[in-house]
Amino acid sequence: MKNILITGGAGFIGSHVVRLFVNKYPEYRIINLDALTYAGNLANLKDIEDAPNYTFIKADICDYERMCAIMQEYAIDGVIHLAAESHVDRSIKDPFTFARTNVMGTLSLLQAARQYWNGEWQGKLFYHISTDEVYGALELDKPEEPAPYGSEFFSEATKYSPHSPYSASKAASDHFVRAYHDTYGMPTLVTNCSNNYGPYQFPEKLIPLFINNIRRGKPLPVYGKGENVRDWLYVVDHARAIDTIFHNGKVGDTYNIGGFNEWKNIDIVKVLIKTVDRQLGNAEGTSDHLITYVTDRAGHDLRYAIDSTKLKNELGWHPSLQFEEGIEKTVRWYLDNQEWMEHITSGDYEKYYEEMYGKR
Ligand code: NAD
Ligand code: TYD
Repeated sequence: MKNILITGGAGFIGSHVVRLFVNKYPEYRIINLDALTYAGNLANLKDIEDAPNYTFIKADICDYERMCAIMQEYAIDGVIHLAAESHVDRSIKDPFTFARTNVMGTLSLLQAARQYWNGEWQGKLFYHISTDEVYGALELDKPEEPAPYGSEFFSEATKYSPHSPYSASKAASDHFVRAYHDTYGMPTLVTNCSNNYGPYQFPEKLIPLFINNIRRGKPLPVYGKGENVRDWLYVVDHARAIDTIFHNGKVGDTYNIGGFNEWKNIDIVKVLIKTVDRQLGNAEGTSDHLITYVTDRAGHDLRYAIDSTKLKNELGWHPSLQFEEGIEKTVRWYLDNQEWMEHITSGDYEKYYEEMYGKR
């Protein structure tokens, strides 16, 4: 495989995937296609932008004619599809944008690949990146005990049961990808990963938002009672899993990606406060008062927990970082890269944030 199209490569996870592939595979030509929405930022790729095997194209995946032209012009052999609208709160406010990009955009890309590959599937692959949120929500059957908080996990066989417009749109896109495999014989792969954290994440998501707010002494809006559970994976480990699966995954198959690392939101918030205060040289407890309980998110899924045993057993992948180490590195990165954060949060960001959540 030589020419690989990575969509959404200017976003959070996509930028880590692009960086990994550009550096690790000089023999591949990596084409990063991104519409540069509010979530896409070429500053995420400064370190590799001049690499000889890297090309950036600003384009919208919903533009079917353009996708066909790009498949042809760059003689694309493999697609790794990450472009999406990705934030649940935004999907609650504006579901149409999610249906457009995540469903119609994915369909447009699938059809363009099908049209260009024209039934010659040898050496071709359409790899779709999805989320564990398509499976719905799990119960907390051991709320007072340490993780795991329940005996049930999401496996590849778990029935889809999405609750938010975001997860509904991702579920629909997953179904389309599998339909292209089953109907036309297109070589596809789908992976469903748990919550990611790490450098370059847009600061509307819990971890970067809270690190930034602690640094600035701003309130930390915890939804509901902070008892919802998420399963966290360091983003570089997700990128490593994508590399492994892209090269060795069984065509037509699905793999769950996660690190068996469940945390209640409030416990994560406490770890973040401790870590940021320590790294800034503040006395322990300095920022505890910033915790502010706010109205819960509508339809807030209680617990996500991924069982990634299949990926471990079949392809030998496992996370490389313990959570404590990952959080330490992540906090360090955001504190050391305030310029990146200022750039991202300048201009429209503050306006958007206020429109979305009101004054906080
Ligand atoms: P992100 O919001 O940080 O990045 C999305 C990227 O897609 C941005 O660069 C944006 O400009 C681009 N994009 C959006 N609409 C586009 C369009 N119409 N055409 C072309 N480009 C467009 O998202 P992320 O967190 O990096 O997530 C990437 C993928 O991984 C998504 O498909 C998401 O569903 C999935 N995922 C995310 C997580 C997570 O925790 N962040 C977990 C599992 C799966
Ligand atoms: P988020 O980072 O938005 O990811 P997702 O909704 O895809 O899991 O949120 C992670 C968890 O943190 C989720 O349970 C919602 C909660 N949360 C807050 O309590 N406050 C916030 O300001 C945000 C953004 C999220």
